[in-house]
Amino acid sequence: MNKYEHTQDRNFDGLAEHFKKKIYGSSKGEIRLQLLWEDLEDNLLNNLQDAARLSVLDVGGGIGQISAKLANEGHKVTVTDVSRDMLELAQEHFSAENVSPENYELKNIALNQLSQEITEPSDLVMFHAVLEWLADPHSGLKCTMDKVAEGGHLSLMFYNKHSVIMKNLLKGNFRKVVSNDFIGERGGLTPISPLDPVDVYGWLEAAGFNIISKTGIRVVNDYLNRDLQASRSYEDILHMEKLLCRQEPYLSLGRYIHVIAQKQ
Ligand SMILES: C[S@@+](CC[C@H](N)C(=O)[O-])C[C@H]1O[C@@H](n2cnc3c(N)ncnc32)[C@H](O)[C@@H]1O
Repeated sequence: MNKYEHTQDRNFDGLAEHFKKKIYGSSKGEIRLQLLWEDLEDNLLNNLQDAARLSVLDVGGGIGQISAKLANEGHKVTVTDVSRDMLELAQEHFSAENVSPENYELKNIALNQLSQEITEPSDLVMFHAVLEWLADPHSGLKCTMDKVAEGGHLSLMFYNKHSVIMKNLLKGNFRKVVSNDFIGERGGLTPISPLDPVDVYGWLEAAGFNIISKTGIRVVNDYLNRDLQASRSYEDILHMEKLLCRQEPYLSLGRYIHVIAQKQ
């Protein structure tokens, strides 16, 4: 049995508003968006010629905040998601950000429909915080990697199993660590398939991708207890995140790991 094969993929219908409030209504979401954008700028966007217009595919894109920013910079964006509820939130967000309808499309399709529904490969494919919601992450990643054009980039963010272990150790939940039991409750916001980074890096390399950057997303914030989080300003926490998120050993302890990889 595939070691990640626990249940079925998690469609966010019924969970979308809760997700928006819990993640993007807090500094957790803000830190995530800031660092993802910085990585994309440093490794890709800042190197583009002025008039370059990328084709961008955001798989399991949810509300699509990064996609909306890219579309507002003139790139051509397609956001796909299996959840209608999430795409409704995406539509609200794109409208609120005044994104030109010519620059984006929202498609209600699942990963396994990508091969039929998305015919052209894209310059940039984003796959952020989806892998850990899949019953078979490796197959899901393969469907997504197939959609990257040769020489194009994959921006992949996944939920890091080592961070889950460390958090449980700090809480004294030794039994959970020994039994390797980290699966979230059905219907909750704890991912069903935390990933071992070594597996993910191996899958990328085996598919001919060259990893060009790695960043730990929330290497500090999530290890502070509530009182400490409340007593430090957002700016101070973000400053610490930026200081440590791209160096070992902190990056490998990030709640998520963001990888940018180029297809050879
Ligand atoms: C945690 S959210 C992440 C959303 C967005 N990428 C972000 O970073 O904010 C996971 C998303 O993956 C979608 N999803 C889960 N399984 C999927 C599948 N098999 N095909 C397409 N989307 C899927 C969910 O509906 C949900 O919107």
